[in-house]
Amino acid sequence: MTSEALENLLHEERHFEPSAEFAAQANGTAALYDAAAADRLAFWDTQARELISWDAPWSEVLDWTNAPFAQWFVDGTLNVAYNCVDRHVEAGYGDQVAIYWEGEPEGESRAITYADLQAEVNQAAHALESLGVRHGDRVAIYLPMIPEAAVAMLACARIGAVHSVVFGGFSSEALRSRIEDAEASVVITSDGGYRRGKASALKPAVDDALDAGAESVRHVLVVRRTGQDVAWVEGRDLWWHEVVGQQSTEHTYTAHDSEHPLFILYTSGTTGKPKGIKHTTGGYLTQCAYTHRNVFDLKPDTDVYWCTADVGWVTGHSYIVYGPLANRATQVMYEGTPDTPHKGRLWEIVQKYGVTIFYTAPTLIRTMMKWGADIPAGYDLSSLRLLGSVGEPINPEAWMWYREHVGHNSCPIVDTWWQTETGAIMISPLPGVTSTKPGSAQRPLPGISADVVDDLAQSVPDGGGGYLVLTEPWPAMLRTIWGDDQRFVETYWSRFEGLYFAGDGAKKDEDGDIWLLGRVDDVMNVSGHRISTTEVESALVSHPIVAEAAVVGASDEMTGQGIVAFVILRGDAHEGADTVKELRDHVAKEIGPIAKPRQIMIVAELPKTRSGKIMRRLLRDVAENREVGDVTTLADSSVMDLIKTGLSGDGD
Ligand code: WT7
Repeated sequence: MTSEALENLLHEERHFEPSAEFAAQANGTAALYDAAAADRLAFWDTQARELISWDAPWSEVLDWTNAPFAQWFVDGTLNVAYNCVDRHVEAGYGDQVAIYWEGEPEGESRAITYADLQAEVNQAAHALESLGVRHGDRVAIYLPMIPEAAVAMLACARIGAVHSVVFGGFSSEALRSRIEDAEASVVITSDGGYRRGKASALKPAVDDALDAGAESVRHVLVVRRTGQDVAWVEGRDLWWHEVVGQQSTEHTYTAHDSEHPLFILYTSGTTGKPKGIKHTTGGYLTQCAYTHRNVFDLKPDTDVYWCTADVGWVTGHSYIVYGPLANRATQVMYEGTPDTPHKGRLWEIVQKYGVTIFYTAPTLIRTMMKWGADIPAGYDLSSLRLLGSVGEPINPEAWMWYREHVGHNSCPIVDTWWQTETGAIMISPLPGVTSTKPGSAQRPLPGISADVVDDLAQSVPDGGGGYLVLTEPWPAMLRTIWGDDQRFVETYWSRFEGLYFAGDGAKKDEDGDIWLLGRVDDVMNVSGHRISTTEVESALVSHPIVAEAAVVGASDEMTGQGIVAFVILRGDAHEGADTVKELRDHVAKEIGPIAKPRQIMIVAELPKTRSGKIMRRLLRDVAENREVGDVTTLADSSVMDLIKTGLSGDGD
């Protein structure tokens, strides 16, 4: 964000009081803030008891004696699948729809009740056990947005296996490294899924990953979705419908320790190697359920909830699978892209199911703005009563557009700040309580403690800016980085003594409300997806013609940030007409299409300090077409002239 845009933001004077009507029926009340402020741990104790069913109670709400390694609800035991499925059936809600699944090809849909879900999860749990998956074993899930993704996750949770969902848009290379890091013994995938009108292929990527390594894998379970031909390794590969379909629909669960790992989810850090974020059971589920209930104001008997994320990201874990299902939500799950087969597809789905709560990302809202307000105007969106946003700062214009053209000027908007690491929402308005401001996530939720500090870890006064930190442990916090406690401590807990460093810049306005300003590290945010500059640089230099590469995130009107790469070719490599295309495709192959640079510039030199550090700030100036800033620390001050005059090879 430019400083000018920032100044405008902080002078935002519009605010929207909750309507009396909404406030009167809201789950969240001002009393929650008071209760949490009076006794934070007692507050979480209450949430855990009221929202979750436990098999054994805890002896202590929080054990923080070995900080920053937390234990929540110590000695408590529970089963996440029981909480998300069975208990609702037991309570008489077996016929309630859990998931309205909408395939991308129009006319393909399924309605799955809680009773259906119970039968499928139980069968899948047996199937995994029959393949030798035991408590604590890791299972990789590489699926499109089909109900089996949720079923597979819940089946793992039921038997205490640790799932590692890998976004279906990641490459075979990315999949291989994640399988290897977690040492998964089973991969659950599908023949493909529908994206942009075409059947994508997933199974071939799994085959490639297993050919290249990933030796821990014994079995691949393949869901049939598209019916396309797939290669088959006898003995290793098994059809889901054959293995799962033949199992009993009854399964007796065991309760797991509150701190038993529920899942690992990989996310980009500032170095090339993705971090396996480890989440555990009791605290995670408690905070997912609590935030989903209060931030989205869920009324399980009447609401139809829809989160447009993919289960491959943390938003899909916490707000498609665990939070909503723990709260007995009826929700929509959509397989495809928003513009297939036409640009009104999402609104058509809202109309079809009478969606009441809609949760999406700013990049999608900006895309919708570009397509024009007449598209949502063509559908009946009157069922909507609450809108949410997540993934990156939402610019006030997009917020206002969302409110007017989707939320008919009456839906409260919740801008929710959180991270893969936080596991659940941390900073957000409470609908019905908070007077909202377009562009600000505002306050930590009741039970959560956050602050903005300066370089010396001092809390900044209202009106000041600095780094966002979390000042107290929270139930859904990551417990560590899988297999790398030291990196966990260094990344999050070493910058400021005793504080969790989120990696985001932030400001407090005159009222003390928080405005998020984007990452302060080498992590880019492209369409709400986290990609590290070093990860893309490593992918580029793994190509034989590349000698050196530097990558920056340049501001982008649609995607928030766009990836811009500066590349030096090897001495003997000649730049051909297709060099840029080849390099972009290479990055897609190494990481996935989401990491394809928007632009690649072939340059002769890179700007470096005397100690050899690449000065990304200057490259960002070039990428954003700005006057290049202070160059006095450059080892060779003529380099920037060279780059500016010698630019070639714009991407498409
Ligand atoms: C980073 C975390 C949390 C699920 C999706 C992304 C940015 C996220 C907001 C928001 C401003 C936001 C931050 C954060 N971010 N939500 N409402 N306002 N920034 O999860 O991939 O772990 O990325 O996304 O920069 O650190 P993630």
